[in-house]
Amino acid sequence: MARERNLTWHPSACRDADPRRPLTLWFTGLSGSGKSTLAFALERRLLDAGIACCVLDGDNIRHGLCSDLGFDAQSRAENIRRVAEVARLMNDAGLVVMAAFISPYQRDREIARRIIGAERFCEVHVSAPLAVCEGRDPKGLYRKARVGMLSGFTGVDDPYESPQEPNLALNTAEVALEECLERLLARVRGEGGAS
Ligand code: ADX
Repeated sequence: MARERNLTWHPSACRDADPRRPLTLWFTGLSGSGKSTLAFALERRLLDAGIACCVLDGDNIRHGLCSDLGFDAQSRAENIRRVAEVARLMNDAGLVVMAAFISPYQRDREIARRIIGAERFCEVHVSAPLAVCEGRDPKGLYRKARVGMLSGFTGVDDPYESPQEPNLALNTAEVALEECLERLLARVRGEGGAS
């Protein structure tokens, strides 16, 4: 398709240097599961260690790059596709990427894996149970969804497809933040690789 449009991809020196690194840690899970908390806490750790990184967070990205998108399945797919393309560029520029998106559909996450490259894509299922996420309800959105003020909310009246074989599963209802960070840092350091 690109060839038909007379476009040629120029490979980056960074990808040539080590095709496996740096990683994109792709945090998927319900709203309130702890994706953003983990991503931003990890960012702090990585910056303190002098490791270049960037958080791509659903709420933030939907303020700008994806402000034209809603929450129907097609819009969520486009959201994930755009973010995956950005993550790929950032990896090519040498940054560790933490992408925190509900990304409820298996198919969309597979597309992200393909865009970023399987060797760099680390799927992290932030797997807190719905009842726990709903109990936290940091933005009050579960409450709105339950009283009918918000429709198509993931986990309430919209689906969430759990990863079948995530590279890492972190149940934030059971595993403390500090321990989650240790497991994530091990991945970034390449212990266990992307898989
Ligand atoms: S995704 O499904 O396309 O991956 P994304 O992670 O970008 O979603 O955005 C999710 C955030 O949007 C939630 O944390 C919440 O604050 C907000 N939001 C607003 N409406 C919805 C909805 N219907 N379903 C899920 N999240 C919603």
